[in-house]
Amino acid sequence: MCGIVGYIGTKNSVPILIDGLKRLEYRGYDSAGVGIINSGESILVKNKGKVSLLEERLADLNLSSPLGIGHTRWATHGIPNEQNAHPHTNQDGNLFVIHNGIIENFQSLKRGLIKLGYNFKSDTDTEVLAHLIDSFLSKDYPLSKAVQMALNEVDGAYGLAAIYAKEPDKIIAARKGSPLVIGVGEGENFIASDVSAILAHTKKVIYLDDGELAIITRENHTVKTIADKEIEKEIHEINMSLDEIDKGGYPHFMLKEIMEQPESVSNSMRGRLLVDEGTAKLGGLTDVLDRLVNSKRIIISACGTSWHAALVGEYMMEQYARIPVEVEYASELRYRNPIITGDDSVIFISQSGETADTLAALKEAKSKGALILGICNVVGSTIARESQAGVYIHAGPEIGVASTKAFTSQLVVLALITLLISRRKGMSLADGKAVVEELIKIPDKIKLILKMNDEIERLANEFKDAKNFLYLGRGYNFPVALEGALKLKEISYIHAEGYPAAEMKHGPIALIDEDMPVVFVAPKGATYDKILSNIEEVRARGGRIIAVGDEKDDELDNLADYTLKIPETIEMFTPILTSIPLQLLAYHIAVNKGLNVDQPRNLAKSVTVE
Ligand code: AGP
Repeated sequence: MCGIVGYIGTKNSVPILIDGLKRLEYRGYDSAGVGIINSGESILVKNKGKVSLLEERLADLNLSSPLGIGHTRWATHGIPNEQNAHPHTNQDGNLFVIHNGIIENFQSLKRGLIKLGYNFKSDTDTEVLAHLIDSFLSKDYPLSKAVQMALNEVDGAYGLAAIYAKEPDKIIAARKGSPLVIGVGEGENFIASDVSAILAHTKKVIYLDDGELAIITRENHTVKTIADKEIEKEIHEINMSLDEIDKGGYPHFMLKEIMEQPESVSNSMRGRLLVDEGTAKLGGLTDVLDRLVNSKRIIISACGTSWHAALVGEYMMEQYARIPVEVEYASELRYRNPIITGDDSVIFISQSGETADTLAALKEAKSKGALILGICNVVGSTIARESQAGVYIHAGPEIGVASTKAFTSQLVVLALITLLISRRKGMSLADGKAVVEELIKIPDKIKLILKMNDEIERLANEFKDAKNFLYLGRGYNFPVALEGALKLKEISYIHAEGYPAAEMKHGPIALIDEDMPVVFVAPKGATYDKILSNIEEVRARGGRIIAVGDEKDDELDNLADYTLKIPETIEMFTPILTSIPLQLLAYHIAVNKGLNVDQPRNLAKSVTVE
């Protein structure tokens, strides 16, 4: 949710913090702040709104310090304003604390601290941490010990960092539930919520795990458990270039990521297709394949767009692998005391690999003995490391808050898993080869669809003033209707609903009139004839119809007001192709409305609190 970054070294930390915060801004942009310590002086600068505002203020102040921490906020406790912005301080103003997560027992801790005479300046849960740490500093505990003792009293999730003017040679960082990495440099070190914030300075990172605390100095880093036991940590080399996390000349990350899909989809299948054997090769599943193939049931769980991918996965696996599949919202699965056994395999899908709802559901399913698999994009992320096995989707960094290329790559990986299981469960070599050969053609078909960008921009102009939208699909493309509606909602703020097309006549058809745009996702498939009747039903009520269908399908031209034609493919892969025109439609409607599509209001890229 929030983004945190820190630097200790010999350079001026201020530009390093600002650059890092800019790269983390997709995690939250309600307010931003830095705390720096230089020759005993503690300087705090923070403001409501974007990092760019903070950068302007700092430029005027022309500050310099070899030690500093910075934060960009996604508000959970306390409205977005300067007072609630991080860093938070102790009453002497010489301790700075930044935090990503939620302190669940902050109210009771706050009451205790107020009794001890502490005054609170903000409405946040995080300020409790600053005063709690201070309560131990005032008993002459060193900073690392004071942080440890404070955290022993805390319930909740945190990725935090603290610096103290009386100990200007270190940063203390700790993690439980929220991601945190240490960046290892030469004569300098960094901390950050994710590698993108420090990639410009080092490719050597240490991933902190839950319950770990780090003491980071200019020359060194020590990692120990909150319970004080020292731990040896592996230093990972990151193979990601800065270009990958820049806009590459596009006006928005979202458009860049939409346009990258021929490559990202290719990367998701690269080295994983055995053409002659008509199957897939997924090294990350080798050790658990027998157990997966013999699962009594497969549960796929996720949130948001990843949950929509899970729904498509259900259609794929049940059609080809003939294993019963259930799809679960992670947040609901977590607290429903679900009936899960060791005969079940549970697949968790998460682009960021840090979504708290999904992580909590994973731990719940793990405690019930199921085989736990992860499908993630961010390498080294918590869900990937907590899973017993899994597959990275290799879509490359996804910075735009609205997920696009991760969705299509998740569908490719679900198809690869389906193929692998199905071939082990009797799918013929010929059928397997047909699926493999069609999958190989998908990137070129996406290139053809992306050529419709200008046409879709013109169409978007027609609908930018719409107040509502309805998206309808059947079978494999019902989840695409849900995804199209989500894309529009989250970046254009237009109310939109996705529905199974046949469900429409059981209620939503009452919404249809000439002001209700209806998007039909209608490629050829098992339910094509049925969806043509649904289109007729909407026409009869005067709805304005946009239909996404096959290039050779003239029938749709007669029925719909606007058609977006995609290359034909087998039904299993139609969601990969039909979702892309809907990504572009949402993008252009939001841009037409002058909205910030990369950082839509109230949202964050990875939701690290439940
Ligand atoms: C999608 O555009 C949204 N950003 C959101 O729904 C997202 O899919 C959801 O938060 C899950 O994120 P994850 O895949 O990183 O777990």
